[in-house]
Amino acid sequence: MRSKIVSIGSYLPEKIMRNLDLEKIVDTSDEWIVKRTGIKERHISDKPTSYLAYMAAKKAIEGVINPEEIDAIIVATVTPDKILPATALFVQSQLKAKNAFCFDINAACSGFLYALSVGDSYIRSNTAKNVLVIGAEVLSKFVDWTDRSTCVIFGDGAAAVLLQPSNDESGILDIVLHSDGDYTDLMQIPAGGSLSPCSKEAIDNHDIYIKMLGNQTFKMSVQSIVAVSEEALNRSNLSFNDIDLMVSHQANIRIIEGVAKRIHFPMEKVQIALDIHGNTAAASIPLALDLAYSQGKIKKNDKILLNSFGASLTWGACVVVW
Ligand SMILES: CC(C)(COP(=O)(O)OP(=O)(O)OC[C@H]1O[C@@H](n2cnc3c(N)ncnc32)[C@H](O)[C@@H]1OP(=O)(O)O)[C@@H](O)C(=O)NCCC(=O)NCCS
Repeated sequence: MRSKIVSIGSYLPEKIMRNLDLEKIVDTSDEWIVKRTGIKERHISDKPTSYLAYMAAKKAIEGVINPEEIDAIIVATVTPDKILPATALFVQSQLKAKNAFCFDINAACSGFLYALSVGDSYIRSNTAKNVLVIGAEVLSKFVDWTDRSTCVIFGDGAAAVLLQPSNDESGILDIVLHSDGDYTDLMQIPAGGSLSPCSKEAIDNHDIYIKMLGNQTFKMSVQSIVAVSEEALNRSNLSFNDIDLMVSHQANIRIIEGVAKRIHFPMEKVQIALDIHGNTAAASIPLALDLAYSQGKIKKNDKILLNSFGASLTWGACVVVW
């Protein structure tokens, strides 16, 4: 029994930070940010990740099921409320989803696809009937606002999907995931964990914030996304020509255009959300999917390709029949 996305909801904090606002904080320009990334603005939260996740989840289940009917809540995030306990438990409490088991997944920008794969497995194995899969981030709290190479990129937001058993041909056909632990230095928060606990020195060195070797990451992204997408399509007996909509992780317009060019895929069938969301890591794919849905770009039986590339390193692809 395959699983299907029966509903979707998202939440973006009210406050919007435009590139012009960033010009006042670091040595950058609207022109550089738009040209090198495609990002024009991003949302910034004064609330924790669980609140954004809760708001998105509430929208996703509204009119579909009651909170008590949720069997599992999986939150993909790299910006948890606390190291302990899992952010999903704070979401459970706010939602009053008393019967759910809850946990987090950390796979950076691929986190949503990793979480979706776990949720899909619970449905396929009949472990659960209603699974909430949420991508949620408050990256603005983990960004070094003196580092122009990272602070212009990230944004905050959350989106949730409800998975249920499919009773027809629609649903998740396949998900392919990959990781490479030899590249953990490419994107990291150096301090605050057991390897290097938080200290005054770590704070002074800004080691409690995201550090990224953007250029090296960029160079590996296009090829990895293309390869994993081909793998997922092959396993589903489909080709890029069969795909009605591609929703990629929203890191950089040059990466997304690079992928489209490589596979000769028309940009009209590619969802773009990074111009208004920035890079929201685990939230970026479901946020872009919800944007496409609200813009009327998704019809019943459409074949959708989701793909991602993230720190450090994780990548994946998923084929969905809507
Ligand atoms: C981060 C990223 C936008 C940087 O773009 P880039 O073209 O690779 O830029 P580089 O890092 O090579 O820097 C080029 C120059 O721009 C400068 N620069 C960096 N950030 C800048 C900013 N915000 N404003 C102005 N100049 C900036 C650099 O200092 C460098 O200057 P130099 O040549 O004088 O040394 C891009 O590498 C990227 O998107 N990487 C992938 C991110 C990703 O996918 N991460 C994993 C998943 S989240």
